[in-house]
Amino acid sequence: MSAASTDIGPETRVAPAGAPVFAGDAPVRTIAEDRAVTTMTFDAPAAFAGARAGQFLLVSSNREGAPLLARPMSIIATDPLTISFGYQGEGTRLIAAAEPGEALHLFGPLGHPFEPLGPDALIVVEGAHFGTMLALCHERRAAGERTRVVFVTRPPDAPAGPVTAGEQDAALIAMFEPVAEVTRLAGSEVVAALAAARPAAVAAGAFDHVMGEVQAWCEREGVPGFAALQVAMPCGIGACKSCIRKFRDERYHLVCEGPIFPIAEVAFR
Ligand SMILES: Cc1cc2nc3c(=O)[nH]c(=O)nc-3n(C[C@H](O)[C@H](O)[C@H](O)COP(=O)(O)OP(=O)(O)OC[C@H]3O[C@@H](n4cnc5c(N)ncnc54)[C@H](O)[C@@H]3O)c2cc1C
Ligand code: FES
Repeated sequence: MSAASTDIGPETRVAPAGAPVFAGDAPVRTIAEDRAVTTMTFDAPAAFAGARAGQFLLVSSNREGAPLLARPMSIIATDPLTISFGYQGEGTRLIAAAEPGEALHLFGPLGHPFEPLGPDALIVVEGAHFGTMLALCHERRAAGERTRVVFVTRPPDAPAGPVTAGEQDAALIAMFEPVAEVTRLAGSEVVAALAAARPAAVAAGAFDHVMGEVQAWCEREGVPGFAALQVAMPCGIGACKSCIRKFRDERYHLVCEGPIFPIAEVAFR
């Protein structure tokens, strides 16, 4: 043991700096379902009070048979603490099965939020990546900022998964409309929509081919862009090394150190 470490007794140890994180059970307060999109509120632990758009929590069911690893969910709002999610597989099925008053295990808030985007921001969102962007719309509206949303859909014959199937897209668009001006389009029309909107800043959360188009447009036009990345995040804190993704500096970085990054940094192609 080094001399330095023997100098530090238990009485001198302090908690590491940084925002407090909650890890424990919290009762579900309300549950609302709309076309397989579930919105849940919780009796919020105090640690979530200052959470911002882009941050997430890990949530898991306490029921028998629940997957070992918690599932990452965007923090849609903090008063009350709110998550919204589409049914994907066993993890989200069991979380959605919770009854009011039932305790789910929460861990968060985690991640780094969006930087301020300024008054003229455009959001590009594909259905399955809606959570972070919905949180951003809520936050901007609360700050009195207008937000335009380009909601990218897939053709019915090529759905990405249950969360992007037509009825669910309709439910998600209905969630965005009170907090943003929504334009719905097919993925191939993204560049035309950006050119028509000419925003001063862009935030995007979508599949890689759409993100690549947004990245190229931002670079061509000199517009700052931000990417919200979504990959499996079993720990959310940099411990498991499961959320590795390649960046344009040829190195691999952990997405949980975001999940919001300048779009220019990420390798999408
Ligand atoms: C930062 C972030 C925010 C998100 N916000 C939302 C949101 O607001 N709303 C929403 O609907 N979805 C959100 N997601 C996606 C959501 O986490 C997935 O839909 C969910 O994990 C799918 O889990 P499942 O068990 O239902 O599906 P499955 O189809 O069973 O899971 C897919 C497979 O991916 C792997 N996997 C998925 N999650 C994890 C994990 N945490 N650890 C290890 N392996 C995993 C497993 O192999 C799993 O079998 C977010 C993801 C991230 C990274
Ligand atoms: S989620 Fe475990 S290292 Fe990123």
